[in-house]
Amino acid sequence: MRIDILTLFPEMFEGPFSTSILKRATIKKLVRVIFHNIRDYSHDKHQTTDDYPYGGGAGMILKPEPIFEAVEAVKSELVARDGVSEEDASRLPIILLTPQGRLFSQQIALELSKYKSLILICGHYEGVDERVSEHLASDEISIGDYVLTGGELAAMVVVDAVTRLLPGVLGSKVSPQDDSHSSGLLEYPQYTRPAAYRGWSVPEVLVSGNHEKIAIWRREQSILRTFKRRPDLLDKAELNPEEKELIKRLNKKERLKE
Ligand code: ADE
Repeated sequence: MRIDILTLFPEMFEGPFSTSILKRATIKKLVRVIFHNIRDYSHDKHQTTDDYPYGGGAGMILKPEPIFEAVEAVKSELVARDGVSEEDASRLPIILLTPQGRLFSQQIALELSKYKSLILICGHYEGVDERVSEHLASDEISIGDYVLTGGELAAMVVVDAVTRLLPGVLGSKVSPQDDSHSSGLLEYPQYTRPAAYRGWSVPEVLVSGNHEKIAIWRREQSILRTFKRRPDLLDKAELNPEEKELIKRLNKKERLKE
């Protein structure tokens, strides 16, 4: 997968992208992340990328021209050098990172991981000229209901979550299917050696060697944990009829406590 990131601060990405899984994925050529400094597409000698908001108000707004031109340059390069057809280039996701976007989730990460190429635009200052969202971006993503100083950290989150889903990135033994959220439930508790630490023992079933019992226990723990910590997720989770019954019983127990 090729990911092009448009930003005013490419240096912010140096640390996270040159360590750990992202670094390995890059070395293995499973992902290629290319940075484009929006400032390089400005038109004047001061390399202006922002301006005052029409109608007044605090803060500065990112101008549309450098962003449109940077995206157009990336698309042309994809066609000229990466063998992408004009048609595919016109359909690839162009994602604006903004607190006003749709809320990022494991589902969206999975959806994005299916594309060969993504373009991410990091907003900054008080906002981005609305014409970028109306006429350039195909999608807008927020990583949470809080406001960051810019879209860079959000882009890092998206790239990390998407990259680890690409085939071969996590290694053959690790399956993203077991992740918290991929089935709509939180992940079950995990333990490693020692079997007893400061008097706290690993649950018996995990050292029993009975794989069927372990699978049942893990599923139950996932459901209980989701019920306690993120009951909002249960409405959309994939549950069988018995599990739905379990949730009903747990809800009833809770009501009786009140
Ligand atoms: N830019 C500023 N805040 C953001 C957020 N929560 N998500 C995505 N981009 C942002």
